[in-house]
Amino acid sequence: MPCSASSTTVLRGAADMTDTTDTTLNTKGITIKRTAVTFNTDTDSPVEALRPIDLDIAPGDFIALVGPSGCGKSTLLNVLAGFIKPTSGSTFVGDEPITKPDIDHGVVFQDYALFPWLNVIDNVAFGLERQGVGKQERYARALENLDMVGLKDSAYKKVTELSGGMKQRVAIARVFATDPSIILMDEPFGALDALTRRFLQHQLLEIWQKNRKTVVFVTHSVQEAVYLANRVIVMTARPGRIKLDHRIDLDHPRDFTSPEFRALEKLVYDQLDEELAKTFSLEGGQGYSSD
Ligand SMILES: Nc1ncnc2c1ncn2[C@@H]1O[C@H](COP(=O)(O)OP(=O)(O)OP(=O)(O)O)[C@@H](O)[C@H]1O
Ligand SMILES: [Mg+2]
Repeated sequence: MPCSASSTTVLRGAADMTDTTDTTLNTKGITIKRTAVTFNTDTDSPVEALRPIDLDIAPGDFIALVGPSGCGKSTLLNVLAGFIKPTSGSTFVGDEPITKPDIDHGVVFQDYALFPWLNVIDNVAFGLERQGVGKQERYARALENLDMVGLKDSAYKKVTELSGGMKQRVAIARVFATDPSIILMDEPFGALDALTRRFLQHQLLEIWQKNRKTVVFVTHSVQEAVYLANRVIVMTARPGRIKLDHRIDLDHPRDFTSPEFRALEKLVYDQLDEELAKTFSLEGGQGYSSD
């Protein structure tokens, strides 16, 4: 059920879809109200990255954000992370306005952003130390989260000894360890090979099904978006607006080859095509991958 940018649609979140949701889970919704970003540069004219965006994200939703290169996906994620202050509009996690980075808003980027001077377990425990968690509990929780991503045995390795896929698993364990109420992921699997990516998609889904965190996940892969999310948002070419807001109700694990899955991929591609054409003609955009 597509909807246009002008009609803000509040869809039921994943948390509403199941009776088994534990209300004690730390999960919050996100509200984006007329949020716009224009970058002022010293050398060039101002860049309008985002036109006013309205979006209500329910607690426990898994949102996949797709759109042409340069349309403002990372900008929106950076606003939600508190790294960029919007030019206008306001954003909230639960009832709290987003004003600055907060450990309660977990962020995972494409390049892992681990601390190379710390070993694996200390990387995962880092945020817990900042939260004032005692050493014994910090290590226990770090190990539990490393176990969740299959890396318990690598806890005392140096980060530099890990492969790219392992580093990204450490980054995922680290973000879940602090039990944030929302998780923001910017192309977290973009640099990984197809097999590792598939494995991590599966692991992320398992963790999400257990924790029901609200996830906003930016990806260039339409297949990944349809595989993971319960709501796919397609953005227009810059300045970014919402072109499609579509609920995905397929059960997990989803079958890439099923007619339903293929139909949803096509729906998203159809919406992207026009925007991609604009991006290519204006800026020489990068396009979309089918992996
Ligand atoms: N700090 C900045 N200063 C000036 N312009 C910026 C800044 N950050 C982003 N932009 C511009 O804002 C627009 C949106 O950028 P953004 O990084 O959000 O795009 P994106 O959708 O994440 O693209 P990609 O898919 O390639 O990662 C681009 O035109 C970019 O050049
Ligand atoms: Mg980006």
